[in-house]
Amino acid sequence: MCGIVGFTGARSAAPVLLDGLKKLEYRGYDSAGIAVMDGNEISVSKVSGRIAGLCEKTKDGAAVPGTTGIGHTRWATHGAPTEENAHPHLSNDGRFAIVHNGIIENYAALREELIRDGYHFQSETDTEVIVHLVEMYYAGSVRDALIKTVNRLRGSYALGVICSEEPGKIYAVREASPLIIGVGVGENYFASDVTALVNYTRSVIYLEDGEFAELSEGSIRIFDCTGQEQSKKVSRILWDVQAAEKGGYEHFMLKEIMEQPAAVKATIAPRVSGGKVDFEELAAMSDEELRAVRKIVVTACGSAYYAGCAGRYAFERLCGLPVQLELASELRYSDPLIDDTTLVIVISQSGETADTIAALKEAKARGAKTLAVVNVVGSTVAKLADYTVYTWAGPEIAVATTKGYTTQTATLNMLAIYFAARLGRIEDQSKYVAAMQALPRRIQQAIDLNPSIPALAKKYHDNRALFFIGRNTDYAVALEGALKMKEISYIHAESYAAGELKHGTIALIEEHTPVIALCCNPSVTEKTISNIVEVKSRGAEVLALTFRTNRQMLSVADDLLFIPEVDALFSAVIEIVPLQLLAYYVAKENGCDIDKPKNLAKSVTVE
Ligand code: AGP
Repeated sequence: MCGIVGFTGARSAAPVLLDGLKKLEYRGYDSAGIAVMDGNEISVSKVSGRIAGLCEKTKDGAAVPGTTGIGHTRWATHGAPTEENAHPHLSNDGRFAIVHNGIIENYAALREELIRDGYHFQSETDTEVIVHLVEMYYAGSVRDALIKTVNRLRGSYALGVICSEEPGKIYAVREASPLIIGVGVGENYFASDVTALVNYTRSVIYLEDGEFAELSEGSIRIFDCTGQEQSKKVSRILWDVQAAEKGGYEHFMLKEIMEQPAAVKATIAPRVSGGKVDFEELAAMSDEELRAVRKIVVTACGSAYYAGCAGRYAFERLCGLPVQLELASELRYSDPLIDDTTLVIVISQSGETADTIAALKEAKARGAKTLAVVNVVGSTVAKLADYTVYTWAGPEIAVATTKGYTTQTATLNMLAIYFAARLGRIEDQSKYVAAMQALPRRIQQAIDLNPSIPALAKKYHDNRALFFIGRNTDYAVALEGALKMKEISYIHAESYAAGELKHGTIALIEEHTPVIALCCNPSVTEKTISNIVEVKSRGAEVLALTFRTNRQMLSVADDLLFIPEVDALFSAVIEIVPLQLLAYYVAKENGCDIDKPKNLAKSVTVE
């Protein structure tokens, strides 16, 4: 939620800040602003709405001179998305400007205190207390003022600060919100994530919680929260520039759907060879440690949680271990039955989801072994977990995850095979490995088999509600299919275990109610077909997702989507693809802002 960016160098700062903000816009897009310092003068430009409006207002940055600055794109938490509430916020004396991603939990008490001390507030944001505290504590050193300020803050924050007394310098602070430093030649940067920086540099420093960065055009100094200077490693960004561009597609979401064969291949290939699955990252996990595991708890949010729902079946079947699924936002407050015999698998594309981080910390505090399945290298989840396995999906920009989900499910499938082999439950892995290696090809087939999706979208887009039904592995995919439809097309979509329909929901089925029936698990095909017949006899219009060879379905369903045949244990990776495309084309038909759906942000770094 919210993206921040900072630049210091010899060239004009505003165009670099605006370019960075465009890349970060997926993190929040209800208002935006920049503060640029020209000599000792700070000028602030803000808009309610998108970055495009800010570009227009500042003439693409040309109207804002200065070589040092900070920028922000907002997902509102405290206060409406107005220009007043947009960042940067200025101190009363005009000497400091600040941008913030995160939430200050004790802002109300601080605000009261500052008002008592005579500070005036221009906005309703929690952020504004920070800039007034900095002003209050400033006695000639911005660094000291920041140390004193953050000692007063409770919550999460990635901050960017400039001070008119220190031209050419930008400050950045990190606590429980993502922040990286970009190392340039004669210029330096900070940003919420690497997508804002890849146009400028491949060298980055990952800040830890509690660290400060003091940047000028020729120097980077990092301090801990006591002011002690730290020496930090510079890492290389491996993502290429094009990966964060649309590359000719109308939307990032469509591009990312089409990238899935490559993303899944990149995730699988390094882990399979010689007929075996191997995770180098897990070499340090001893057999003893693994044998001590009595149950697996999978925790995550949103689609990552649904990837866990789909991955569960392979763990249970192949490893013979019970799998408990917990939404991270629930687990953190549920006094969970987790101990040192539990393996907690945490799934997150961004690695920065606040609830997921909290659930991971809770699991660790209870003595569980923790394993993270994460896409973003160096993210908080990746750093906190005992073991981290990366999905190599590359940057995912569209708010609705697609390749994030498929690489997660593929990774979970591989982990199930890997653990089962290490536990001695499968001797010969070759048939599973072959199934894994075929996944990228099968995804491409699932795309190619369904040229009718845009036409089906025209038929199904004009509905207030859609139902997704399925059993077993199909049900797990239905959960994600319905979420995709909801979040980008704004159509109310509900997923039901098909057998549950007659326990209540079937009351909602009437003439022409659209029901999307997933039927790709042969062990329950007959049962799902019975449920299709039940809804059809109450007037439903059924769009079935199945194999081409499922002749029976041809006569039962009104419309069909196909996937190539694949073992049900691993089918989620394939089955979701036509549903992603359907959601995409329905949203397009409805004129929705597909990459930036309303009220959402890509990375949910607040609770
Ligand atoms: C998916 O399309 C979502 N926008 C959302 O549910 C997402 O999967 C969830 O917020 C978890 O994010 P993470 O994977 O970055 O932790």
